[in-house]
Amino acid sequence: MKRSFIREILEHTSSDTISFAGGLPDASLFPTIELQQATQTALADNSIWQYSTSTGYAPLKALIAQMYCDKGFPTTAEEILITSGSQQGLDIICRYHSGVSIIIESPSYLGALNIFKLNNMNEHSVSLNSKGIEIEAFKTSIKESQLTYLIPDFQNPSGTCYSKEHREEIAKLLGASDTLLIEDSPYSELYFDKPQQSISQALPKQSYHLGSFSKVLSPALRIGWIRADKSLTSPLIAYKEAMDLHTSSITQAIAYEYLKDTEQFNEHLETLRSAYKEKMLYFANALDEILPSFEYTRPKGGMFIYGKFEGVDTMLFVEKCLEKGVVFVPGSEFGGKADEIRFNFTHSSLPLIREGLKRIKLCLYKGLE
Ligand SMILES: Cc1ncc(COP(=O)(O)O)c(C=O)c1O
Repeated sequence: MKRSFIREILEHTSSDTISFAGGLPDASLFPTIELQQATQTALADNSIWQYSTSTGYAPLKALIAQMYCDKGFPTTAEEILITSGSQQGLDIICRYHSGVSIIIESPSYLGALNIFKLNNMNEHSVSLNSKGIEIEAFKTSIKESQLTYLIPDFQNPSGTCYSKEHREEIAKLLGASDTLLIEDSPYSELYFDKPQQSISQALPKQSYHLGSFSKVLSPALRIGWIRADKSLTSPLIAYKEAMDLHTSSITQAIAYEYLKDTEQFNEHLETLRSAYKEKMLYFANALDEILPSFEYTRPKGGMFIYGKFEGVDTMLFVEKCLEKGVVFVPGSEFGGKADEIRFNFTHSSLPLIREGLKRIKLCLYKGLE
């Protein structure tokens, strides 16, 4: 079993390597002061230090359910299962459904691909186009698959955001089948201009909707969740208990204390959206200027720019770049083509974005000699 390229890179890069590799948020935007205040309040409650319920901290579940209701997606606290990151949510679902056939986007999230392999799932890869997964191939695969794994909002790695029509079409096709949807949505709040409705909203009894506070609050909290009909979450609880009994009550209580001030959280989301939009524009403009041969589409949200250096083997290329102190992820790691690359644009500061792209330029010319 191959480890994640990105997690290995994170371990081996030195502090002066410029990393466009991991899906890391901009650390300067963590609401550190407010989280410290929330921590103080949370830790003062003696009961928080005790073992807790398997499905999650009740006030946090109620708050997450309310977030869905506010979006017009009726949800009760009973339909929320808190997990240790959305990564664990996906793992739990796949352990329960191990060995079944699953439709996946190509390319797709590396951490998910590893879960599918570990659970002996039979993958049906369907290509993405600019509107989402290719419908004709999806229609064929649906007949042979029990599950579908999609990341419709600013997909990792491609940055694709499914159009409204595409979402409706997929909901219709799934609704007419017995295939369950796993909709992974860690980036859905990171839109630059307007939000999209989740596909799960049209399939409330036939979907697992995965959410996470990693990209919008802090990944160190390790809080994610599964939103699904009770008939779907009930059999998952035994798996959650087998894995870790429950997600840390301490981080759940901290998140709750921070999130209960909804105005504060909404302002934070606004700050993230505008800061990330600015960073994406900066990264894209610098790419056009420094590396004009890189072909890509500007994303409308999320954390990634995906594209290609036509004909360049990016797996060999990244090794050269690492020597020059800059790193990104080759598209082949996600099941993409050999000349594709994923850049994360949120983590590095503006001067480091420029410096990193200049280092890549140096390697590109050398590589083509
Ligand atoms: C599509 C996708 N799903 C899940 C995760 C895992 O996130 P979490 O920190 O909530 O476990 C990531 C992290 O990068 C991701 O990109």
